[in-house]
Amino acid sequence: MKTTNLVTLSSFVSVEDLSVQEVEALIARAQYFKNDGARPHLTEPVYVTNMFFENSSRTHTSFEVAERKLGLTVIPFDPSHSSTKKGETLYDTSLTMQAVGIDLEVIRHPENEYYEELIHPKENEHLNIGVINAGDGSGQHPSQCLLDMMTIYEQFGQFKDLKVAIVGDITNSRVAKSNMELLNKLGAQVYFSGPSYWYDSKYDQYGQFKELDELVDKMDVMMLLRVQHERHAGDPNEAQFDAKQYHEEFGINQQRYDQMKDDTIIMHPGPINRGVELASELVEAPKCRFVCQMENGVFMRMAMIEAVVRGRKLGGLS
Ligand code: NCD
Repeated sequence: MKTTNLVTLSSFVSVEDLSVQEVEALIARAQYFKNDGARPHLTEPVYVTNMFFENSSRTHTSFEVAERKLGLTVIPFDPSHSSTKKGETLYDTSLTMQAVGIDLEVIRHPENEYYEELIHPKENEHLNIGVINAGDGSGQHPSQCLLDMMTIYEQFGQFKDLKVAIVGDITNSRVAKSNMELLNKLGAQVYFSGPSYWYDSKYDQYGQFKELDELVDKMDVMMLLRVQHERHAGDPNEAQFDAKQYHEEFGINQQRYDQMKDDTIIMHPGPINRGVELASELVEAPKCRFVCQMENGVFMRMAMIEAVVRGRKLGGLS
């Protein structure tokens, strides 16, 4: 992959506005970091805080590792002990962070597009802080999406006409939203599968819905999604959910694994419901890229953070 320019952004909230060239540049930069390329030299401190209002293991930890590898100063933020518990808004919390000298906020929040009010302040508002979206409700998950693209690129070296199936709880998944949009833009052929009640025809613009067994032996990438029980309040299908039945109908078991092409890769953003989306004994099988995705996550997040550090001319970088 040939790239010369580094991406610069004032905030990184979505993959929607990224060009193909920017995606390629971010993948190249993440691979450069993965191959021990020299890290940018900060001549002034850059302060970052990770504000996770939803649970996270992978994303939170790998953002923090990425920040430390880049030499940023990480200031702890614990939502359960913050003034948001006293009713302070996210806007006012961000104003506080800016006032005390934080340059960048990495935020995960249950509300879709929570970031809009932070990056587009109204008249008489003066917030100007870098925001990196670590997942908004069922909206977008740009860092997961880009680390997924890096993982696919490492296997196939390109995206054009690759057949990628996104399987599972699609309506509730921000990973699915970001990935279907970007895969489309990169020229991959997207397919969907899983329970029809967790699919919406509005996604038809990105790909075709098919039965899982029609897809298994034809796909290059099988991207599995977690059944997101915490987002199913009021959903009648939640009460009837049966893990064993889900696994039989929509999960990858040994038989389906064996039917896949030799170079097909299986992906999952984690956390995996073992024995539901994927048979437990297949989690570390040769076709499965679950661990590789987590490893790539650190390097892709380094590339994303660097893009905002440069975009805001922080740390003496431009
Ligand atoms: C995903 C998320 O939070 O959207 N997890 C992650 O960031 N690796 C997917 C999920 O929780 O199912």
